[in-house]
Amino acid sequence: SPPKLWGGRFVGDTDPIMEKFNASITYDQRMWDADIRGSKAYAKALERAKLVSTEEMEHILQGMDQISEEWSKGVFLIKPEDEDIHTANERRLKELIGAPAGKLHTGRSRNDQVVTDMRLWLRDAIALLTDNSLQLISTMVERAAIEIDVLFPGYTHMQRAQPIRWSHWILSYAVALSRDVERLLEIKKRANILPLGSGAIAGTPFDIDRELLRKELGFDGVSLNSMDATGQRDFVAEFLFWASLCLTHLSKMAEDLMLYSTKEYSFVTLSDAYSTGSSLMPQKKNADSLELIRSKAGRVFGRCAGFMMTLKGLPSTYNKDLQEDKEAMFDCYDTVHAVLQVTTGVMSTLKINQSVMEAALSPDMLATDLAYYLVRKGMPFREAHGLSGKAVFTAESKNVSLNQLTEADLAAVSPLFGSDVSSVWDYRSSVEQYSAPGGTAQSSVTAQVEHLRNWLKTQ
Ligand code: ARG
Repeated sequence: SPPKLWGGRFVGDTDPIMEKFNASITYDQRMWDADIRGSKAYAKALERAKLVSTEEMEHILQGMDQISEEWSKGVFLIKPEDEDIHTANERRLKELIGAPAGKLHTGRSRNDQVVTDMRLWLRDAIALLTDNSLQLISTMVERAAIEIDVLFPGYTHMQRAQPIRWSHWILSYAVALSRDVERLLEIKKRANILPLGSGAIAGTPFDIDRELLRKELGFDGVSLNSMDATGQRDFVAEFLFWASLCLTHLSKMAEDLMLYSTKEYSFVTLSDAYSTGSSLMPQKKNADSLELIRSKAGRVFGRCAGFMMTLKGLPSTYNKDLQEDKEAMFDCYDTVHAVLQVTTGVMSTLKINQSVMEAALSPDMLATDLAYYLVRKGMPFREAHGLSGKAVFTAESKNVSLNQLTEADLAAVSPLFGSDVSSVWDYRSSVEQYSAPGGTAQSSVTAQVEHLRNWLKTQ
């Protein structure tokens, strides 16, 4: 078989099954651009260190540009001996420019090379996911602004709780997603650190200007310790956890929408564009988009848990186990990227059934307000809660709704109830009471919209 990058001390061939088992080229070719960018920067540092001549550097740079063109045109030919993207690009460089290609790896190891590629790749991926997230948040905030007048039942424990604005529900997820964006940018800070120049474990004995590498590649800092730089993958683990948490938020939101779209609720109608049918039951319209959003949360958390298990038993520095980081990172990226776009589509095309939502409100959901009525008349809340509960019990035993209790019924519960109690039975005035910051009153929800709009502008 053809010579290997590391073949000098070997006499025997690699077992073909082992060869395939060991190779990562089928998936790490996604980092071709990062790998080339890293190599071009490294060639410049080698020239600065007088390890290659200016002419040799030019050849390396031109060769790399040609390889880049081949990849982007989809004509780069992967050979069976190309173990990974690093070997493939170097093999091709040698074919194109000959001897100087052999100088490119001076002082470099695939250990610092691969983690440099990953950090470059993830930095770009984070920028795209940030855009996707901001798009979704903005869609949700604008929808909340438009539909601010719509009321519907709020649930706790999935039981009818209190009337709320539909926009308040939407924004509850927009706020969580805004924290996800902030978390993602935190991860970017730690990911955007240059490992190149760390060698395999010990650093580099050559005059490699790491600050030059940092500037060339747009990193924010230079790694402090070569063993840490080559052997740790916490930046990957953080990203996998981020993906899991972000999709947990979206899964929860999808679950609500799935319920709201059932015939039993009929609060929302999912667009045909995000639904599918049944091959057997002609009447079916299934919320497959929402079900898939929900399921992807499990998928990415599986990636996260799996990679944590890979990391937990490892000794110091680079071990081949770390090759497993890439499929987890790529898959989580692809999954979240798709989920964010589909969720944006769902949220921008969803129809709401305002009259059904509002008709679903019932007076028992105002029992808390009934207690607050007594509080406003001077009664301690604990007592008011108990008496409002009595009123609920009376209504249930008389088989009438809470607002149908007579003045005499209520007077029997507490002498503090007067004829003005009728003001409690209005859903719109109910929600308007919740005007402290964070509440569901119009003023407060508008403040949430404004806050998120301003936040979006600063991103
Ligand atoms: N394909 C390898 C990976 O993904 C590159 C690093 C290989 N390093 C080594 N010492 N074998 O991790």
